[in-house]
Order: sequence, then structure tokens, then C-alpha cells
Amino acid sequence: MERYFDVLRLAHDAVGRVLRDLAEARGDGLCAVDATVGNGHDTLFLAQAVGPRGRVYGFDVQERAIKATQNCCGEAGVGDRVTLLHAGHERMAELLPDDVTAAAVMFNLGYLPGADKSVVTQPATTTVALDAALSLLAPGGVISIMAYTAHPGGSEETEAVRHWCAGLNHPLFKAMEYGMANCPEAKRLFLVGRFHG
Ligand SMILES: C[S@@+](CC[C@H](N)C(=O)[O-])C[C@H]1O[C@@H](n2cnc3c(N)ncnc32)[C@H](O)[C@@H]1O
Repeated sequence: MERYFDVLRLAHDAVGRVLRDLAEARGDGLCAVDATVGNGHDTLFLAQAVGPRGRVYGFDVQERAIKATQNCCGEAGVGDRVTLLHAGHERMAELLPDDVTAAAVMFNLGYLPGADKSVVTQPATTTVALDAALSLLAPGGVISIMAYTAHPGGSEETEAVRHWCAGLNHPLFKAMEYGMANCPEAKRLFLVGRFHG
């Protein structure tokens, strides 16, 4: 029962499903991006989902996040399919190779648990990164955005993401928001799909 009310799990379920469907349709290695690698949980999930012929690009502004993710993926034996960039995700368009088309881009906003809470994602740079993610999203691909409201600036960032989603061209893109209806301060998941236009 708990699993249906856990938006982090919902994000993995949805992104994993999309990656499986695209891998079946395309039959070659997929590319995915983790826009905020943190402790590496989402990067590891993506690296396992894209398989041995796939590639995952990961961004984080903190050296300790890059190292933690390197270790996490290395220990799981998938480090060779992960490229980590110690840079802000707002530089995604500049730093990723021109030919990258992403089947999935994951954002887990906010701060790194257990680290400096002042190093936190910001609406202005998050929306630049979201624009870049949208430009490199493959037809049939998905962007997941986990947004938090409890920390200072979190509500504003969540609102910026909601506003960004609301402005997307429909029906080329479809954006959904998931969250606890009776706990508005709980984290929100936004899923954006690119449809075949
Ligand atoms: C909630 S944590 C990510 C958790 C991670 N996905 C995981 O699975 O462990 C948010 C991360 O965003 C990073 N961050 C903050 N500003 C950033 C930016 N402009 N670009 C990329 N990462 C950023 C923080 O350093 C932090 O590690």
C-alpha cells in the first residue's frame, strides 16, 4: 500500500517504464541525464535502467556529491556507463555532446541531505536546466522533477516548476503533478512526457 503513496518510488516506476519501452522500440543503448546526482541513488537507478550499452550524464555543483555518486555506481559495477560533470545543471546545453538525445532526465531538487543546506537548487537556474532538458528529450522520453516545499525557497521553486510545466506546448508535451492532497507541504512530483508530434 505504502508504495502507491511514495512519489519518489512513483518517479522511478514511471521513468523505469519509459526506459524499458524505449529500449524495446529502439533496441540500442539509451541516454539519460541525472540533473542533481547528490548521493547517487537516481544515477545508479538510471545506469541500471539504460543497460550496458547506455550512458548516463550526471551533474552536481558539489564535489562530495560527485565522489559519492562515483563510489555508488562504481561499487554497483556500472561506473563505466556514467559520466559525471562537476557543474551546475544550468550548463547542460553547453556541456553535453551535441548529439545527445535523452530518454529520461531526472531532477531531484533542494539540498543534499546531511550536507550544507545552503547549497540548494534555485528557481532561476532550475528553469534554465529544464529548458535544456526539454530540448534534448527524445520523443517518448520523460523528465521527472521532484520538488520540495519545506526548506527556505522551496515553495517558490516548486511554484516556478509548476509555472514552467503549465507553459509547455500541449499536446506535444504532457505534464502531470503528483502530491499528497491532504498534505500540501509534502514533496511534489512533476512528470513531463514528450509525445510524437
Ligand atoms: C536532493 S539532492 C539530490 C539527490 C540525488 N538525486 C540522490 O539520488 O541522492 C539535490 C542536489 O542538487 C545539487 N545542486 C544544487 N544546485 C545545483 C545545480 N545548479 N546544478 C546541479 N546540482 C545542483 C545539490 O548539491 C544536491 O546534491
